[in-house]
Amino acid sequence: MSKRFLLFLVAGLAATVLSGERATAQDIIKVGEYASLTGKEASFGQMSHHGTELAIADLNAAGGVLGRKFELLTEDDESKAGQPSTVVQKLISRDKVVAMLGEVASSRSLEAARICQEKQIPMISPSSTNPKVTETGDYIFRVCFIDPFQGAVMANFASRTLKAKNVALLTDVKSDYSIGLAKFFKLQVEKNGGKIVAEKNYSGGDKDFRAQLTAIKAANPEGIFIPGYYTEVGLMLRQARQLGIKVPLFGGDGWESDLLIKIGGAAVEGNYFSTHYSPEQSTPASRDFVQKFQAKYGVLPDAMAALGYDSAMLLADAMKRAGSSEGPKVRTALAATKDFVGVTGKTTMDANRNATKPAVIIAVKNGKFSYVESIEP
Ligand code: PHE
Repeated sequence: MSKRFLLFLVAGLAATVLSGERATAQDIIKVGEYASLTGKEASFGQMSHHGTELAIADLNAAGGVLGRKFELLTEDDESKAGQPSTVVQKLISRDKVVAMLGEVASSRSLEAARICQEKQIPMISPSSTNPKVTETGDYIFRVCFIDPFQGAVMANFASRTLKAKNVALLTDVKSDYSIGLAKFFKLQVEKNGGKIVAEKNYSGGDKDFRAQLTAIKAANPEGIFIPGYYTEVGLMLRQARQLGIKVPLFGGDGWESDLLIKIGGAAVEGNYFSTHYSPEQSTPASRDFVQKFQAKYGVLPDAMAALGYDSAMLLADAMKRAGSSEGPKVRTALAATKDFVGVTGKTTMDANRNATKPAVIIAVKNGKFSYVESIEP
């Protein structure tokens, strides 16, 4: 073999290895996810994560987008304030993700949104409903409705279905979600000619709500609205019944976890909440999703799982439409989303990067969540 030919061979080999390496790095689209996999809202975080993970698996099985597969890099924020900033920084700087999915809880989404906006990393929250999340900036989106709508839905439910004119409010002052939902609920109650007869506060993590409930009972409300998360709400429902409060208690999407029933026991019976999705919804996309989710995880999906799935699917769709995975281009494509068909229904982004979707009302009956009705926006 001539020296020249050998050189040629070595150079060729080196070029193949080099371009091979480049091709691998370019072949993968890295997507970041931050979620409350442990801690107080672990049930939400796990369900949302499973939905997201299933979507990424489905996308990759179908060949990915732009001829590239996805890699999902997930970080646990432990349901703790301060953690979203840390893990999201890490995902962006160390792992070089090109987009971000998360979180369920509005306070934590708000924290991470500021970083994603600054770094021009498009972020899609699956299920944070506080308006402030997307107000952070033009890189921040969500695939769910917002709380001015959810608050109005539950205020109308109180006056029309429960026939409750005088209602009480119990708000978690540590949660942006709870504060916002309480405010929007109150606005609509007053518009409907109703009255807030008692307004009490608590802090996420509290375990004893008897003082607040006793004061609420004394005001004689016909219903009590609790815009909280299942961990505290389960305990509240128990304590309310122990104190002899017999009127219905109702809340928003923060109630939707099996743990609500585990914590609240029989006291959960006969109460109501609004949410985004029910596995009883019978669209083809939903039926297909329920079947796949159950096969993989052995449980029925809930709203968080469905919205997690839709958030990842919408991101992939936007990349396909953009013909790119670069932040600014994906951002523009996300903003232009129109009638994207997902598990939870159609998603169209409004001018403020929020989705407009119907709400679902659920009643707790015989220890199970049972679909009552859908309320159109
Ligand atoms: N919407 C709630 C929030 O913004 C979180 C939540 C999402 C609760 C999905 C239940 C289901 O904080």
